[in-house]
Amino acid sequence: MSNAPLSLEPRLEPRLESLLESPAFLHTLVDALGSPLNIVLPEQIAQNVERFRAVFRRHQLAGRVFFAHKANRSSALVRRLTTTEAALDAASLSELQHALGAGFHGERIMATGPKDPEFLWLAARSGATLNADGPGEIEEAAALVRAYDLPRLRVLLRLSEFETSGARTLSRRSRFGASVKSLDGVLDALERHQSALEPIGVGYHVDTTSLDEKATALEGCLRAMEELRIRGFQPRVVDVGGGFGVNYLAHAAQWDRYTTALTDAVMGRRPPMTWGGHGYGLRVESGTLKGSLSLYPAHRPIAGAAYLDALLARPAPSLGRPLGTLLLESLCDLYAEPGRALADQCGLSLGRVLEVRGTDAGEHLVRLAMNAGDVSLEEHGVLMDPVLVPRDGSADGSAADASGPVGVHLMGNLCLESDLVTRRTVRLPRLPCPGDVLAFPNTAGYCMDFSATSAQQQPVARKVAVHQEAGAWRWRLDEQYWPITYTGGHRA
Ligand SMILES: Cc1ncc(COP(=O)(O)O)c(C=O)c1O
Repeated sequence: MSNAPLSLEPRLEPRLESLLESPAFLHTLVDALGSPLNIVLPEQIAQNVERFRAVFRRHQLAGRVFFAHKANRSSALVRRLTTTEAALDAASLSELQHALGAGFHGERIMATGPKDPEFLWLAARSGATLNADGPGEIEEAAALVRAYDLPRLRVLLRLSEFETSGARTLSRRSRFGASVKSLDGVLDALERHQSALEPIGVGYHVDTTSLDEKATALEGCLRAMEELRIRGFQPRVVDVGGGFGVNYLAHAAQWDRYTTALTDAVMGRRPPMTWGGHGYGLRVESGTLKGSLSLYPAHRPIAGAAYLDALLARPAPSLGRPLGTLLLESLCDLYAEPGRALADQCGLSLGRVLEVRGTDAGEHLVRLAMNAGDVSLEEHGVLMDPVLVPRDGSADGSAADASGPVGVHLMGNLCLESDLVTRRTVRLPRLPCPGDVLAFPNTAGYCMDFSATSAQQQPVARKVAVHQEAGAWRWRLDEQYWPITYTGGHRA
């Protein structure tokens, strides 16, 4: 069997593709601002919002798309979103402050996740909606509203542990939200605190790729809405959370081939495909394959806005009619909180090649001026090849060395054995040279700044926002970006 490294080509939409075809521009940025460097594309996030809005229109649903800010810290992306129809999901005090400072009105913000008192206070003070994590938070919020004479706070109940009427499908346990079984008690609390809190609906965020599980949760929410109505509340919103996913790879066949070969390699039927025989969750015990692949399904035929579309078109597990129709008929507004899916194609991470070292085993180690925290694709289980951006500007770098496709291991800049930018052998079109840059596409969702640290005082990546003007790429530091032009003419 061939020992050639298998490709996992990234899926590139036109903006990201055009940026990667501009090596001189990318090298100028890395020369000026250092490595690692993160690039974000604010125009792309606006386009992604529009894709979600189109799904709402198709199902004739009113409602809102909240960007789950946790996916990326960029100011440019958040500021650009203020000029779209998007709202924002803030999961910490700093994210909330950032959103308010970017121009989001409190009314367009939802506070999610576990909260400290300061976060709760500012959310209430600024008129944000509280996505309540459980009964304790409801009590705390009501007490704050009364103690500080804050405006009545709109509250959405986050629910969990749904089941269909036949108890066939059960959604997984979560440390967040209140179990639907405890809904009665939560509604008692809301009744007691009516002067301080206004319940506007219910929601969920289930961390799964399964449409079945989400359909069960959504139907569970529709039932819970009935409970609220029976108690005399006037709920009007169902929030389907985030988790719509991203399709990272260009070719399904490459993904299938790769995962099959990885299983063969773990079984010893082909040479290792990873550093130290790492199995991404698979192992062999007494000749038998054990464990399961703990990888993100990098090729996802239905992801992002298309996933929401599929969910709304899906029949409710017990009621049998499409979930979108049931939402429409019960006059519910739909809220969604995509993070990763709105950040799809919105950025890339650049790392300069510092050293290329041959080994006795015949493999090459490529050391980068970045570390595993700077591009945490692997931490999120996303396997995807980087793109070589040659220093000499030739598309395939053929001027430097005509070695042809090679498999390399990518090492980070920390003195840690575990600091591997990728644990697998990565396929490049040729052996890189010091000074070349590797671009990791599509890192804006969680992979560019979620896990970055200043360990060993290595620099944390700076961030720039880029856009195209008259066919040329222009850039600004992320914090310098505002959605206005400096050419005298302002947006219509
Ligand atoms: C409450 C909530 N909403 C939305 C999201 C965003 O999820 P995703 O980025 O998968 O769309 C998360 C992610 O953790 C979350 O916890």
